[in-house]
Amino acid sequence: MKKIGLIALVGLIILAVAAIALPGNSKMDASGVVKLPAPRTDGGISVEKALSERRSIRSFKNESLTIDEISQLLWAAQGVTDDKGHRTSPSAMASYPLEIYLLAGNITGLPAGVYHYSPEGHNVSTVALGDKIPELFGTSMNGKADWRASAPAIFIVTGVFERVNKVPGQDLSRFVHVEAGTASENLLLEVVSLGLGATYTAGFDANKTRECLGLVSGQDPIAVIPVGRK
Ligand SMILES: Cc1cc2nc3c(=O)[nH]c(=O)nc-3n(C[C@H](O)[C@H](O)[C@H](O)COP(=O)(O)O)c2cc1C
Repeated sequence: MKKIGLIALVGLIILAVAAIALPGNSKMDASGVVKLPAPRTDGGISVEKALSERRSIRSFKNESLTIDEISQLLWAAQGVTDDKGHRTSPSAMASYPLEIYLLAGNITGLPAGVYHYSPEGHNVSTVALGDKIPELFGTSMNGKADWRASAPAIFIVTGVFERVNKVPGQDLSRFVHVEAGTASENLLLEVVSLGLGATYTAGFDANKTRECLGLVSGQDPIAVIPVGRK
């Protein structure tokens, strides 16, 4: 018991120190929550232009993204758009089974780390500090260099299956995968609108990803979307 208390205390101290000391990190509170800048809900390019310009981009400049861009991308994927809690993506039975994580490598205004997005608060909470992108994507599953390691940010769409599996005798797990597609496409179109590059990927080491994000049983990573400047 004493050991757990000590670990929690050390964790809080690390976050508090991070809140004060890390560059460009003025918005992280002592519990590791970072309020994101308000997303823009107008402007950008037309949907038609975004659709016609979208392409998978697998090579990124060695440049940072901004916290405003991260805010916009997370909002596009799952942001809340009315006072009833509806979101940018449709959801089966309004069950909202998706949880989005961010691996921040090189983002101005956000320390490198693993973050979980809360649509309700439009904020991210810290899962772990430190750049996990090289750890998770340093080598691909066939042992070769993985191009995703050069991305300054990687979004990971996960699903919690019990949120849709509420009809006795029916396995509705497919709903979660369908939703991951709609949320991811929103993010990909926002990437184009912001003039950035990304690729929708589903080839990744699920066990390593689960471990990195600290996922519990019943929650699976579905899609990995590296984003950077092209
Ligand atoms: C379900 C799905 C899984 C994908 N997985 C990967 C992947 O693991 N790695 C990758 O480099 N691209 C992946 N892609 C991207 C496709 O290779 C890409 O969309 C396709 O070549 C068409 O090119 P475009 O996206 O530029 O139109 C995936 C796309 C989809 C729809």
